[in-house]
Amino acid sequence: MKTTVTIIKADVGSLAGHSFVPRPLLEVAERRLSEAVETGLINSFYVFNAGDDLELLMTHFKGESSEEVHRLAWETFKAAAEKAGRLKLYGAGQDLLSDAFSGNVRGLGPGVAEMEFEERRSDPVVVFAADKTEPAAFNYLLYRVFADPFNTAGLVIDPKMAMGFEFEVLDAIENKTVTLKTPEESYSLLALIGTTERYMISRVWRSEDHEIAASSSTTKLSLIAGKYVGKDDPVCLVRAQAGFPALGEILAPLLHSYLVAGWMRGSHWGPLMPVGLKDSRCTLFDGPPRIVALGIQVADGKIASDDEGRPLIADLLGDPAFDQARWEALELASHLRRMGEFEPARLGPSAMEYTTLPQVLKRLEARFKQPSS
Ligand code: F6R
Ligand code: MG
Ligand code: MG
Repeated sequence: MKTTVTIIKADVGSLAGHSFVPRPLLEVAERRLSEAVETGLINSFYVFNAGDDLELLMTHFKGESSEEVHRLAWETFKAAAEKAGRLKLYGAGQDLLSDAFSGNVRGLGPGVAEMEFEERRSDPVVVFAADKTEPAAFNYLLYRVFADPFNTAGLVIDPKMAMGFEFEVLDAIENKTVTLKTPEESYSLLALIGTTERYMISRVWRSEDHEIAASSSTTKLSLIAGKYVGKDDPVCLVRAQAGFPALGEILAPLLHSYLVAGWMRGSHWGPLMPVGLKDSRCTLFDGPPRIVALGIQVADGKIASDDEGRPLIADLLGDPAFDQARWEALELASHLRRMGEFEPARLGPSAMEYTTLPQVLKRLEARFKQPSS
């Protein structure tokens, strides 16, 4: 039987602004998902936060886009949003853009990444979750991991990876996908995914056997809602080892910080800062954009757990090996913030269309006159 790993996330309210998800909301989610384990709907779960986003990591046998699993996530978010409302937390229910569930959370606000696969003898998976940025923030990371032999030695050394990988890329404006194969089409792939405003990698498969290797969320809240409703803080699942990139190859791109769109008001370029779970909260200028990575083992349909049934979670980016990237992120942050609202610290005009800036500019419209020659 195939196992499905599903992560569904939403911002349903946070503490003292868009900073982090406090314990009472995580507890609501833990209770709901425990009940779902008891009824057999899901096999295991882990609830955590990436900044102000509530993250529901689940394993089950229901396949991708399962209505039951998506409904469970939706109802869990609703319950957590109600709790957030009662506590008068900030932005209660922010990402739940619809009142009615219609079979799948895609298109309703939450972000989703899912992978269904036949378990190997041992199946390590890395779960990435980022806050104050957008799904295309993973373009750079996934390219480095699956297409760059200077990052991933396995592309050169491991015969199972020698045929390369296939990347599915979503054009978020046209809502169309294209699949490109590396190494043959790496330049074309870069031609697309370098434009992070429009193109995002949604899936990666190993070319040799078309085995799923990675899956990323692709929600564009502004395109769903037609207005700015926060950034689409993304999640991504990556399979590791034994014919996939090693854990260390998956994390290697985070030796350095890199710039992503998002940060304050979803309107600025900001440095992605790798952090451990204890530092998964956004502070400085509502950031810097942060990424956490959890290492899990998928075993017999579950997240491998201890004798008490607690999932075994490796909090990968808390490691001192990422201190340099954290310092680089702060260096970049201090350069960018000195520029205030001047481009390129602020996003360009087409990205700003999806923020609250146009409302401000509209007020000035009537005051524009022809220049006196
Ligand atoms: C970015 C984000 C925050 C808010 C900012 C203003 O994704 O969520 O940076 O945009 O804190 O929030 P409001 O308008 O709710 O005061
Ligand atoms: Mg928020
Ligand atoms: Mg968020």
